[in-house]
Amino acid sequence: MNYKDYIRIIPDYPQPGIRFKDITTLTNNGPVYAHAIDAIRQAVADKQIDLVAGPEARGFIIGAPLAVTLGAGFVPIRKSGKLPGEVIEASYDLEYGNDKLAIHKDAIKPGQRVLIADDLLATGGTIATTINLIRQLGGEVVGAAFLIELGYLDGRKKLDGIDIFSLMTY
Ligand code: PRP
Repeated sequence: MNYKDYIRIIPDYPQPGIRFKDITTLTNNGPVYAHAIDAIRQAVADKQIDLVAGPEARGFIIGAPLAVTLGAGFVPIRKSGKLPGEVIEASYDLEYGNDKLAIHKDAIKPGQRVLIADDLLATGGTIATTINLIRQLGGEVVGAAFLIELGYLDGRKKLDGIDIFSLMTY
């Protein structure tokens, strides 16, 4: 399947010069969404995944269905102030702006095998921070999976040593 046919490019959003990759035109097509999640599942099927961790908000759209299809749990990585229990937090830079991410302290037990899932790998800042949080809790990051990788931003460099799967690359 040519998944790119279902991605809508929005010029100059959220800033002039940025060509935003809108995944909602893929995910509002049930069969294509299911096909995409299944393609990621197949790519990571041999990793013995205990948990899928996805950063807010679009990471939930990919990570939650992936977790269900893998028979794994789902761990939400949220922006600061959103999780109700005890958390650890880390700051990160975005392609445009910066923010803080948080995870529940008891979300991952030491030694659990965690796959990270998100819609998009851009600069890699979000995922580098997510890896940091998972490792602080003793989780083993077994890979990272994305619908889209923006190859020209070189986010992979920040994720050295992590096995990366991307369904589409621009
Ligand atoms: C976007 C995207 C990734 C991240 C990628 O999320 O969904 O999580 O940016 O950028 P990076 O590789 O440069 O870190 P955003 O923070 O905009 O949050 P949202 O999903 O809530 O819109």
